[in-house]
Amino acid sequence: MKQLLLASLLFGYSLAHATPSICRCRPHEPCWPSHQEWNHLNDSVHGNLVAVRPVAAACHEPDLNTAECDAVAASWNNSIWRATQPGAVQWVNWEAWPEHNQSCYLETSPDIPCGQGRIPLYSVLAKSARHIQHAVRFAKEHNIRLAIKNSGHDFLGRSTAPESLQILTSGMKDIQFIDNFVPAGANKHKGEGPAVTIEAGVALKELYTAAAAKQRTCVAGSSYTVGATGGYIQGGGHSPLGTWKGMASDNALEFQVVTANGDLVIANAYHNTDLFWALRGGGGGTFGVVVHVTIRTFPEAPVVYSNLNISAVDSSIFWDAITQFHSSLPTLNDAGGSGYYFIMPQYQFSVMGLMFPNTSDTAMVDRLYHPLVSALNSTSGVTVEYASIPLPSISSVFSKILLPGPVGTPDDTGAVGIMGSRLFSRDLLVSKDGPAKLVNAFKSLSTEIIGHVVAGGAVAANGQSIDSALNPAWRRAVIHIVLGERWGVNATLAEQEAVKNKITNVYVPALRAVEGEHEMGAYLNEANPYEVGFQASFWGENYPRLYRIKQKWDPTGLFISRKGVGSEDWDDAGMCRLK
Ligand SMILES: Cc1cc2nc3c(=O)[nH]c(=O)nc-3n(C[C@H](O)[C@H](O)[C@H](O)COP(=O)(O)OP(=O)(O)OC[C@H]3O[C@@H](n4cnc5c(N)ncnc54)[C@H](O)[C@@H]3O)c2cc1C
Ligand SMILES: *[C@@H]1O[C@H](CO)[C@@H](O)[C@H](O)[C@H]1NC(C)=O
Ligand SMILES: *[C@@H]1O[C@H](CO)[C@@H](O)[C@H](O)[C@H]1NC(C)=O
Ligand SMILES: *[C@@H]1O[C@H](CO)[C@@H](O)[C@H](O)[C@H]1NC(C)=O
Ligand SMILES: *[C@@H]1O[C@H](CO)[C@@H](O)[C@H](O)[C@H]1NC(C)=O
Ligand SMILES: *[C@@H]1O[C@H](CO)[C@@H](O)[C@H](O)[C@H]1NC(C)=O
Ligand SMILES: *[C@@H]1O[C@H](CO)[C@@H](O)[C@H](O)[C@H]1NC(C)=O
Ligand SMILES: *[C@@H]1O[C@H](CO)[C@@H](O)[C@H](O)[C@H]1NC(C)=O
Repeated sequence: MKQLLLASLLFGYSLAHATPSICRCRPHEPCWPSHQEWNHLNDSVHGNLVAVRPVAAACHEPDLNTAECDAVAASWNNSIWRATQPGAVQWVNWEAWPEHNQSCYLETSPDIPCGQGRIPLYSVLAKSARHIQHAVRFAKEHNIRLAIKNSGHDFLGRSTAPESLQILTSGMKDIQFIDNFVPAGANKHKGEGPAVTIEAGVALKELYTAAAAKQRTCVAGSSYTVGATGGYIQGGGHSPLGTWKGMASDNALEFQVVTANGDLVIANAYHNTDLFWALRGGGGGTFGVVVHVTIRTFPEAPVVYSNLNISAVDSSIFWDAITQFHSSLPTLNDAGGSGYYFIMPQYQFSVMGLMFPNTSDTAMVDRLYHPLVSALNSTSGVTVEYASIPLPSISSVFSKILLPGPVGTPDDTGAVGIMGSRLFSRDLLVSKDGPAKLVNAFKSLSTEIIGHVVAGGAVAANGQSIDSALNPAWRRAVIHIVLGERWGVNATLAEQEAVKNKITNVYVPALRAVEGEHEMGAYLNEANPYEVGFQASFWGENYPRLYRIKQKWDPTGLFISRKGVGSEDWDDAGMCRLK
């Protein structure tokens, strides 16, 4: 009897290890591809397969190389360099795997050897759809964890995965303008108007610069090196032009995608409409690898740019002023105002820049601000500064104010930390005590707040005409609020856990409580990586439909990303299936 029990235990044990469908194949297991098989993949991608080590490996034994390490240190905070390196992502904490005591930080002692962490083992430096197809088929055939990396900017660590094969798309830079785009499958008289097709690796500044040269503009985000085609637009994509023309994903007309089978398909209003629905807001790294996307372009237009600074002598006066400021936001936003603000409670200071596209009428904008500015200006203990300037074009807002450097300018990156966020509705801001409730939450957190005024206007209106996976909370929102917390490279696991707990159990719950747990939601691309109930937060009532589409296009879960659709069926690293 005892022997029988033992035998069945042992049998059970060996079964768990032999079944490839439960866990992905790991190095040193018999299922891991042979050298010959890797070489074969390398041939099929024209020699673009590389073995990958974390970028800071050259700064540690046994691979210490002073010259190489100096070069790494010089580029450490350069987002352009990080985008092109298979052994890096932008937020260095995602390169480490603290749960497995593996990291490779520049700053730690050279005699501590580097762990691979969450850095992939191999990368296909993709140059074409074909390369992506070969990589996808290889990962599927050998049951290997797959990571899709474009810029590597993802704040939730979705562009890297331990013991994985990476597909690096950041080298695919083609941009093609079209006068009248006819989606595949549409009647040729059914042109959608001017558009641009952008390949997987195009960065936002590259897109803006190319569009400006054609006197066109398009809806995209505020960063030099975030990608236009990857996680950004697939997660919805907010923009300072959103209030004017909608979310980036609202302006997507067609995607070309490599599916989990390795097939190359079109997703638009005529072909694979369920995939088209999911790719507009369902999140990157989940439904396939996008090779290129075609988005609308718009003619250039003049802009009024406005700037409002508020400072106060004490914190109670400051928060009252910030409450009044939030009460005024719906009026500014209804008139087309969109942009960003920063609240710095430690300095009792806030600064906001809003643009009003397609007008030169500064007097109109000044009138909108007047009630707020004059009320604040006559409040004792408050200093207010206000200015409005007409600019000749949208592109000049980007080239002079938001992204004032040429293509090749990096974003600041290389930091260690995580964030939390929440979308807040117009209904809240126009309600009698809504702004005060919101500000009370900010007050209780006493941390820096980044406000994004990127919804309302066309984002709200498009809810009537566009059916996509985008979080429905966006259609009711005016602002997207983000806060973050950093830790040092020497932080122990316990110290890191303390930061996660603060974001997950204090900051985000305080923001959620303002409108209620079941109202509104959060923007999946700028959110807590440990978001509780992420399905409802990121997609609301769209989640069940997204989950069904995921099962249809990727039944085996080849594409799994942290807090992505279907990720709840897998463990934290996406290595083993839980159900
Ligand atoms: C400085 C900065 C500014 C930002 N500004 C904005 C902003 O204005 N508006 C906004 O909405 N967001 C903004 N973001 C957030 C941004 O949208 C996310 O970081 C997003 O994940 C970046 O997408 P990526 O493709 O560049 O990054 P990556 O980290 O490379 O990829 C993100 C996710 O998409 C997947 N993915 C990448 N490429 C593909 C592909 N071709 N096919 C399928 N999946 C793919 C990855 O696997 C990963 O899951 C900003 C971020 C930063 C760091
Ligand atoms: C792939 O082939 C190229 C060109 O022959 C070679 O330089 C590279 O080292 C190979 N990659 C791997 C992982 O062997
Ligand atoms: C973690 O790794 C470091 C460096 O390899 C080692 O010195 C340390 O003992 C490890 N800690 C634990 C808890 O395993
Ligand atoms: C700008 O406004 C004018 C006048 O209302 C309108 O005709 C034009 O279409 C607008 N331009 C854009 C790009 O929306
Ligand atoms: C505030 O009031 C003073 C005094 O009336 C005036 O000079 C100043 O221009 C006002 N500031 C703003 C921003 O309106
Ligand atoms: C607001 O403050 C910023 C940063 O200090 C400054 O650059 C800007 O000129 C100020 N705006 C006004 C209208 O004074
Ligand atoms: C990178 O930036 C961080 C701040 O985000 C800074 O603390 C660090 O010193 C910088 N590292 C290098 C190598 O420049
Ligand atoms: C991290 O620890 C190392 C070794 O103890 C030390 O040299 C380094 O200065 C520390 N770095 C930081 C940022 O605290």
